Amino acid sequence: MTNGIAFSKSGQKLTSRSGILELMDDLGRAMTEWPDMLMLGGGNPAAVPAVQKIWRDRMAALLTEGATFDRILGNYDPPQGNPRFINALATLLKREFGWNVEAENIAVTNGGQSAFFFLFNLLAGNHADGRKRRILLPLSPEYIGYADQGFEEGIFVACRPEITWPAPHVFKYRIDFPAVEAALRTGEIAAIAVSRPTNPTGNVLTDDEVQRLSNLARQYGIPLILDNAYGAPFPGVIFTDAKPFWEPHVIMTLSLSKLGLPGTRTAVVIGPKQIAEAVAAMTAIAGLANGNIGQQIVLPLVESGHILKIGPEILRPFYEDKSRSAMQWAREAFDAAGIQWAIHASEGAFFFWLWFRGLQIPTRELYERLKARKVLIVPGEYFFFGLPDDWDHSRQCLRLNFAQPESVVREGLRIIAEEVAAAS
Ligand SMILES: Cc1ncc(COP(=O)(O)O)c(C=O)c1O
Repeated sequence: MTNGIAFSKSGQKLTSRSGILELMDDLGRAMTEWPDMLMLGGGNPAAVPAVQKIWRDRMAALLTEGATFDRILGNYDPPQGNPRFINALATLLKREFGWNVEAENIAVTNGGQSAFFFLFNLLAGNHADGRKRRILLPLSPEYIGYADQGFEEGIFVACRPEITWPAPHVFKYRIDFPAVEAALRTGEIAAIAVSRPTNPTGNVLTDDEVQRLSNLARQYGIPLILDNAYGAPFPGVIFTDAKPFWEPHVIMTLSLSKLGLPGTRTAVVIGPKQIAEAVAAMTAIAGLANGNIGQQIVLPLVESGHILKIGPEILRPFYEDKSRSAMQWAREAFDAAGIQWAIHASEGAFFFWLWFRGLQIPTRELYERLKARKVLIVPGEYFFFGLPDDWDHSRQCLRLNFAQPESVVREGLRIIAEEVAAAS
């Protein structure tokens, strides 16, 4: 170690210059060095004026109620989260969806990312019985942010999906259930985890797929972790009629980030009491308490139920419209360039997952070529962690954020089409 400072094994694992860390640094540097960069690589929610106004009004109200504001800033919440917020959420979920959720089933975390760090390390890795257990990702590609979260190496195992073609140039991944069942039969699976909608693809698992995963998890006595960072019941950036889903062995995470509040770092874990208690304990150890401003900003909307309307009434139309327009621009740009192209069905979140089958270079290299032309995307390779075998598909896909301003998306797509044509 440099300067004579030695890191522990876990320290080394968590600070290794993982591909993702390098990439995130690179994206950040590129943006600062070249302000005219076309940023299609990030995961920031778009600035949606009607939603910004809701949060601005709430903040003003909190400031006006001086005593409340002083209490928010001046006090630590319990590690589980603010009791009034937690009770309001349990009541809302019970009332609207009939789920048997009590306050004891809920724990607040400093964002979904921290929730996953806790959950994965709580469940996966070496157990007291000497066995190593892993998190099963039933559908790869999956969220890049999970990839390096384990204290131990190799905590993920992933399954390739089936690929279906709902329309010309449009593909959709579906879960390969025989592959999932084979992975479960190894006896080494601690939990199944999926994001719905999926980052990077915009895929929304069907209600049937979720029910089947849940049944399998129950059958094997393990939790099903459903990451609803973009999904239902909120924020609701979801373009299909997928139903919100929870059962007593399901660990659901919800986040305020894609409601336009990523800066508040607030998420909730809803699951078995043992899990909520464990997450609260980990919060106490890692950080005493959670930031409470996000919980207080949304509290009246949770109490009134209005938080469930922001998705269907504002965010869904906003992002769905962006998706539809960007799909049209992509068609125009890719057809004009005469390249082989396909887009994953855009069913939620705000990413396009593009597949260029004729590409003769890996997308990591395409990323460099695009960066040289001032277009930033995320190369696909990073999203396929946990797969036991090499898959050429993993080098032919890339993720872009379609919710940027029209001029940025159109120009970005035009340049991507040119570079893919040159490399095909
Ligand atoms: C699928 C998914 N899960 C979790 C997160 C974590 O988000 P946050 O920590 O802001 O709640 C993100 C962030 O973009 C995400 O895309």
